Amino acid sequence: MGATDGIINGTNGTNSTDGTNSVNGVNGRAAEVPATGHTLGQEFTDLVIKSMGPKTPPRIRTVMGSFIQHIHDFAREVNLTADEWMLGVEMINAAGKMSDNKRNEGQLMCDVIGLESLVDAITYQEAVKSNKPLTASAILGPFWRSDTPTRPNGTTITFDTPEDGVVAFMTGQVTSAETGEPLVGAVVDVWQASTNGLYEQQDAAQQEHNLRGKFVTDAEGRYSFYCLRPTPYPVPGDGPAGKLLDLMDRHHWRPAHIHLIIEAEGHKAVTTQIFDSESKYLEDDSVFAVKDGLTVNFVPRKNDPKAAVQLTYDISLALDTK
Ligand code: BEZ
Ligand code: FE
Repeated sequence: MGATDGIINGTNGTNSTDGTNSVNGVNGRAAEVPATGHTLGQEFTDLVIKSMGPKTPPRIRTVMGSFIQHIHDFAREVNLTADEWMLGVEMINAAGKMSDNKRNEGQLMCDVIGLESLVDAITYQEAVKSNKPLTASAILGPFWRSDTPTRPNGTTITFDTPEDGVVAFMTGQVTSAETGEPLVGAVVDVWQASTNGLYEQQDAAQQEHNLRGKFVTDAEGRYSFYCLRPTPYPVPGDGPAGKLLDLMDRHHWRPAHIHLIIEAEGHKAVTTQIFDSESKYLEDDSVFAVKDGLTVNFVPRKNDPKAAVQLTYDISLALDTK
């Protein structure tokens, strides 16, 4: 018996005496399917959507109704086989098993099919329409940590600087897009991978919180720190996301980038990434995060023995009107 036979033949439910198969619905209620077991068409999809009970919250009804519609249409469109469906189920299960507070394989699977980038664009579409000079958003990715330490401006986030690492000085001003005024006390949360392509939580050789820090803007809205000039790295390839990339004949690489979250009182926080304009993979980022306005130019830094290059990156935040 194929993996879908239970549903198609009604064996997930019980055969009733009136010639219908009852499929166990949500909340224990049964929905009726004609005994012909015709589950291929829209009628069956409607039946599944309508099985949601009256206590379903409106947003869940909208999201799940649409999700069921689209996933049924998808299965019909590609004539999804039981083996293909089971492969997908196994990939989701494997992603769950390998995820923990240091690794989020489910998120990575979404990233390689562009879903996190799409959700990011949807989330920020209103802000973008405002015609103000806003800093563009980009995906969070799976390596942010909520417990990053706050460090003084002008200090470093690179503690185990690798031999092939180029130290950069990064500075900028955070302003309000509404008024153009500097935002004092804004928090700039930054994280990046080392030159071996690993974030500190992936790499026992790096000290905890290496290449991460939060910086609070000064009286002029300015922040500054030393970091590494970022280098391209491949997303983790040892799980189902890597398998998916291989199946689709795609490479695993991301262009050189630094992650940022910027928060300021009364303003919408922005999660973003900035990309070295000289990096490889800007045109074919494996997780589709590169956007106009997020590429930056590192330039040589003079008279500073601590850094070979520097970057000025100003940030403009939208007012929070909620
Ligand atoms: C990252 O840049 O950290 C990242 C984003 C999406 C998937 C994997 C890694
Ligand atoms: Fe990253």
